[in-house]
Amino acid sequence: MKLAINIDHIATLRNARGGRLPDPVDAALACERAGAVGIVCHLREDRRHIRDTDVERLRATIKTKLDLEMAATEEIIGIACRVKPDLVTLVPEHRMELTTEGGLDVVAERARLTTAVKKFHDHGIAVSLFIDPVPAQIHAARETGAEMMEIHTGEYADATSAGERAHQLQLIEDAARLGKTLGLGVNAGHGLDYHNIAAVARIPEIDEVSIGYAVIVRAVSVGLESAVRQMHGLIQSA
Ligand code: PXP
Repeated sequence: MKLAINIDHIATLRNARGGRLPDPVDAALACERAGAVGIVCHLREDRRHIRDTDVERLRATIKTKLDLEMAATEEIIGIACRVKPDLVTLVPEHRMELTTEGGLDVVAERARLTTAVKKFHDHGIAVSLFIDPVPAQIHAARETGAEMMEIHTGEYADATSAGERAHQLQLIEDAARLGKTLGLGVNAGHGLDYHNIAAVARIPEIDEVSIGYAVIVRAVSVGLESAVRQMHGLIQSA
């Protein structure tokens, strides 16, 4: 299983003082040196962390792949089609949320998402849909023409009892298997950390995990390269 690192919160810290440091591009290069196979950033409508120029600089600089997380709005779709990340991951976005709160409702929004997927494909950009581990959403994701899905692992990460965690893990396993059966690439992410990663890393159908917050928090203590190496090591040894 591969590891992609979300660097949004490097930009959160940079924006706290309105200057240039820490630089998300330097952080991305450190993640790559430490074994990340992809860099993820979320260009939110309110630009609360990553900014347009960050995405452009990342596109021009990183050596692995750039995964642009985004809502399927006209403005951000336009930016993505110009900058051409390797992958866009479409997520729902609400202004007041602290972070992405759940998966897309692809069943309800199939027509709109299908149109967006086609536009990305016309620009040579692969598409992943961030969805909850629910079979109907996975079938609908397949029907949009997207080549990948990212399973929302937030409910698993937030589980407060062993029973609930095991249940959520089972849903993720089943979702990963169904996604693969339907021919989708399978990513997973949200809320994954140094304690809960091993069980997810043992699911063979998951190609890649996308992790941000836990790694950036650990980086404060041990440095970013060490934090990424530690996470990479846990995934490999699982
Ligand atoms: N995947 C998606 C679709 C997300 O929205 C986020 C959060 O930006 C992540 C993965 C990473 O989540 P975390 O920061 O909790 O590791």
